Amino acid sequence: MNNESNDIRSDEMIPFTKPTLPPLNEYKSRLEQLWKTGQVTNGPLVRETEALLGYYIGNVRCVAMANCTIGLVLAIKALGLKGAVVLPSFTFFATAHSLIWNGLEPVFADIDEHTWNLAPASVKKVLEQRRDVSAILGVHVFGNPCQVEELEALARQYDIKLLFDSAHALGSESSGKKVGAFGDVEVFSLSPTKPVVAAEGGVASTSHEELAKALRYGRDYGNEGDYDPSFIGLNARLSELHAAMALGSFEMLERNIKHRNEVVSRYKSSLSLIPGIRFQRIREKDRSTYKDLTVLIETEEFGMSRDALSWWLERERIDTRKYYSPPVHRTRAYWDRWGKYRDEELHVTNRISEYVLSLPIWSHMDDDIVDHVCETINTAHETAKKIDALYRKSLPN
Ligand SMILES: Cc1ncc(COP(=O)(O)O)c(C=O)c1O
Repeated sequence: MNNESNDIRSDEMIPFTKPTLPPLNEYKSRLEQLWKTGQVTNGPLVRETEALLGYYIGNVRCVAMANCTIGLVLAIKALGLKGAVVLPSFTFFATAHSLIWNGLEPVFADIDEHTWNLAPASVKKVLEQRRDVSAILGVHVFGNPCQVEELEALARQYDIKLLFDSAHALGSESSGKKVGAFGDVEVFSLSPTKPVVAAEGGVASTSHEELAKALRYGRDYGNEGDYDPSFIGLNARLSELHAAMALGSFEMLERNIKHRNEVVSRYKSSLSLIPGIRFQRIREKDRSTYKDLTVLIETEEFGMSRDALSWWLERERIDTRKYYSPPVHRTRAYWDRWGKYRDEELHVTNRISEYVLSLPIWSHMDDDIVDHVCETINTAHETAKKIDALYRKSLPN
């Protein structure tokens, strides 16, 4: 038994997402092995997860972590970055938090109009203006691979490090090559909304043995085994219980990504007939995991704003999100010190953030749920005037 039931009663909310958990029997049999040995952390299941992922991504070293955020914090620390780091603002705020926890300055660059990933030209502009940048931190947003070749060329040209927050992108491909093999290091998340689920977890992936070693010690307080650390590490270990779930989930990864891409095709074939809905561009040779399906709702053409539509969908028992709105530089934690002064440089980020709406998607989603969401959005468009008036009335004066 796994959780692949799609049954949703008509009065139930259609959730924004659902984790696809591995079959319970399989999970239990892995746990039984743990109970026999008593080794619930630092054990063989973590090693197996690391070996499988390293092989899957292609000749990289993987280091399992307690979560992606802490993996990023450690990777940045292990790379010895100084000064400032360029990153997108159109991301989940954990990307930027990982810099702040290392005492680094986040410098937000703009995104590409179509892919919604870091725009190399905007990164270059920052690099031309500032001499204190030690790295570029790209994000494969929603699983869509960054323009890795261009970012790698910039990192080489300016002799700085390149790393990726690959939280969404385990199984994504850039020109046929698996994400996880780019830059100095990439870090994945294994939390419940991600392509591989460990309940909580993360994985750092790198081609550099020295860096992998530092990460292995780093997740273990910096202890190399002699209790005389030379590196200020953390406790960032993935437990064996989490690894047991990750291993079962990993077996379903290819099937899940294939199904998510089919779900997106079905969404696209209906929604692209409605004026004012735009999609994220995935480059032809690339593959996205579609961790999220985010669309743009263009107010004029669609007939109402993104906010009005999400309000209406909630009333129609369809749960949505606004990823990423506000963008990180406009959040309270970042605005005064790191956001305000960059705001004028972030035109595309600001515009896209106003229109984004992330629709329900999960790895075992049935076609009739997709059809129901599309029909509801179509009806909203056709009766936009009425809904917009109701929405405005619902707003506080
Ligand atoms: C882009 C991005 N980075 C980092 C994280 C943090 O991942 P974790 O929850 O594994 O720490 C997330 C979580 O959703 C994310 O979306």
